[in-house]
Amino acid sequence: MAVGIFDSGLGGLTVLDAVQARLPDIPFVYMADSAHAPYGVRDSDDIYGLTCAGVERLWAEGCDLVVLACNTASAAALRRMQESFVPPDKRVLGVFVPMIEALTERQWGDNSPPREVAVKHVALFATPATVSSRAFQRELAFRAIGVDVEGQACGGIVDAIEEGDMILAESLVRSHVDALKRKMPKPQAAILGCTHYPLMQEAFQAALGEDVTVYSQANLVAESLSDYLTRHPNMLGAGDASKYLTTGDPRRVSDRAAQFLRRSISFDAA
Ligand code: DGL
Repeated sequence: MAVGIFDSGLGGLTVLDAVQARLPDIPFVYMADSAHAPYGVRDSDDIYGLTCAGVERLWAEGCDLVVLACNTASAAALRRMQESFVPPDKRVLGVFVPMIEALTERQWGDNSPPREVAVKHVALFATPATVSSRAFQRELAFRAIGVDVEGQACGGIVDAIEEGDMILAESLVRSHVDALKRKMPKPQAAILGCTHYPLMQEAFQAALGEDVTVYSQANLVAESLSDYLTRHPNMLGAGDASKYLTTGDPRRVSDRAAQFLRRSISFDAA
């Protein structure tokens, strides 16, 4: 009865941590495509091909339901996968919608017409591929009107995190927040639209200031997955053990993962 969690690298561990805490009895198989990270500087065909390969690997582990714990894959590949790749007995879910529902104060599945919401000026921090896809704005427009979104493509942060260089990652966060503030001086809310960024949440909050509400996805995705599984218990696949797989060097990836999660995690070669 396992569920698959996919990311290009370590960022999805922020989601994994939250879903494991929310659903402690469910085994999760985590797949990090570390050999090809970062995805955020790739074109959408490339992201599509790599994401399909990772998802197929998780299906082979008995995970009929896979969560793309990666905004870049959710933005650049998910719709195309759902239209032409995912067979009827499998499901692939993304991480965008739960966050947009939280921002627009909606319950799951509330399909009423878009309406005005409290927040008017939103900063979106995400990878270059996610920002240029405009997937966030598209999903938001289905639910809210009158929200001004300014995207900041945060080149370099994912690479620095994957390398474990948190000093570089912090200084990149500060410079991307400065760049955003030049375009939108007073955001009310900031979306961390990359699952790697919660690892830098304090740096984002410090650079943005305490009066900006910072939304990150992990708990929102965990809540929405729990809700989904209550409604679709048949989507728990045949897999029965938690596992961590990587296309990169398992030892190196395990070391970094332990550094971020502050517990030992052992990756195997995918
Ligand atoms: N954690 C990913 C995301 O949420 C991946 C970023 C990347 O590989 O560039 O977008």
